[in-house]
Amino acid sequence: MMKRFAQALGASLAAMLISGSALAAEAGHPEIARQPWAFSGFTGQFDKAQLQRGFQVYKEVCSNCHGLDRLSFRNLVQPGGPEFPEPAVKQLAAEWPHQITDGPNVEGKMFERPPLLSDPIRGPYHNDNEARAAQNGALPPDLSLIAKARGVERNPSWWIHPFLMLGDILKSYQEGGADYVYALLTDFSDPPAGFQLVEGKYYNKAFPGHQIAMPPPLADGAVTYQDGTPPTLDNYSRDVVAFLSWAADPSLDQRKRIGWQVILYLIVTTGLLYLGKKRIWSTLKH
Ligand code: HEC
Repeated sequence: MMKRFAQALGASLAAMLISGSALAAEAGHPEIARQPWAFSGFTGQFDKAQLQRGFQVYKEVCSNCHGLDRLSFRNLVQPGGPEFPEPAVKQLAAEWPHQITDGPNVEGKMFERPPLLSDPIRGPYHNDNEARAAQNGALPPDLSLIAKARGVERNPSWWIHPFLMLGDILKSYQEGGADYVYALLTDFSDPPAGFQLVEGKYYNKAFPGHQIAMPPPLADGAVTYQDGTPPTLDNYSRDVVAFLSWAADPSLDQRKRIGWQVILYLIVTTGLLYLGKKRIWSTLKH
């Protein structure tokens, strides 16, 4: 009886798993591969050199279309991030091509000025309409929080979700957004035969619907690294995604460090409390 029940349960489990993956394929969400990030898992931390390279890629390529409004230049100096020296960042801000609108001045007029350390890292457009007008109707989103705003879409049956979530918690998987943006940057290709590509769009396997208005932004050799890292599409994508992950979660290093300190503290406290309890109760007969 039990055996038959277990068999039936196993068969329906398998059927549901299969229908789950069929659903995922139907919904147009391709499998996004998990990448080995320096900052992943319970103990992962950002790699400062990688964040510096990632910022370089953002600055030389992505900032031509995307802003990073929630990040200020001074954040690039702070511990836990790329930690550029302050004078270098001051100069970077002064030379940033996208100026800050300030004012009104004594004549009551708004004016443009170079950013200071305290100003946000602006993209080329003053507002969404200007961006859409310049980009053929598509809006290049601000990238400050994109690594958190995106994730890996999975469409299994509803009852499998809790198990997937539990698996993610046990593995401390939080890098879905990073994995997605990495796939987005590396998965441009020609459309498969028979695919109707709208004019002005590009085929991308990772993007839902597979048609994106962003032209492939990176290619081998697009950026010249100073530290000898090979100038490949793969490295650029990895580095800029690490940088965007830091931008979306700048206190990750500190949070994980404090988390471990708290756990250590609780373990020691538990030991002390246990010893204390033993000592107090040792004089009592029970
Ligand atoms: C020539 C302009 C241009 C450049 C350069 C550019 N992008 Fe984009 N990007 C766009 C546009 C336009 C969209 C909106 C696409 C759409 O909605 O179809 C976009 C969308 C995105 C998205 C959102 C995708 C989604 O899931 O909605 C991400 C992430 C992104 N870009 C990352 C980058 C990164 C990282 C770089 C630098 C390596 C970069 N982009 C360089 C124009 C650009």
